[in-house]
Amino acid sequence: MKKHIAIFASGTGSNAQKIIEHFKQHENIAVSLIISNNPTAKVLDIARENGIPALLISRKDFYQSEDILKKLNEYSIDFVVLAGFLWLVPTYLVNAFTGRMVNIHPALLPKYGGKGMYGMRVHEAVCRAEEAETGITIHFVNEQYDDGDVVFQAKCPLRRTDTPEIIARKVQALEHRHFPEIIEKLILQL
Ligand code: GRF
Repeated sequence: MKKHIAIFASGTGSNAQKIIEHFKQHENIAVSLIISNNPTAKVLDIARENGIPALLISRKDFYQSEDILKKLNEYSIDFVVLAGFLWLVPTYLVNAFTGRMVNIHPALLPKYGGKGMYGMRVHEAVCRAEEAETGITIHFVNEQYDDGDVVFQAKCPLRRTDTPEIIARKVQALEHRHFPEIIEKLILQL
């Protein structure tokens, strides 16, 4: 039986793109739904280009109803991926996808995580602290920001001269290299 992934993303969607590419020819796993809270998110174009249904959600839909859970069930979603999705996931969804929902964070958690720590803010903080290394963390999602059990981390060394932009590029390369494979591994273990 085919396993179905839903990706929640609100930004550029470069990770979503890599995940879609990774599973495009896959026999048993498919990206079947994209969910975004941002009507101008590039990820919606990516969904269209790949013929994947996309759903735009409001805060009200997300927090005051369980309509999204119904949609996920309608599409027979087995696994949820957060890739640049900034809203805290409500309890009904955390519970419905325990062990089946992951997020990617662009730093080595527990460092540089939590509310407000996203995008360039993370890399600016890493740069300010003159860290010798940074990396990525893939973790299960719970009801707190960047707090669930860690599934995987990868590191990259930093130079003193690295700007936040350079750090962002190094981290993004790690995300694109590892995220699709880790998702595949987790789904194959379901
Ligand atoms: C990534 O850096 C990811 O770690 C974070 O949000 C960013 C999403 O980037 N959670 P993109 O939209 O996939 O390019």
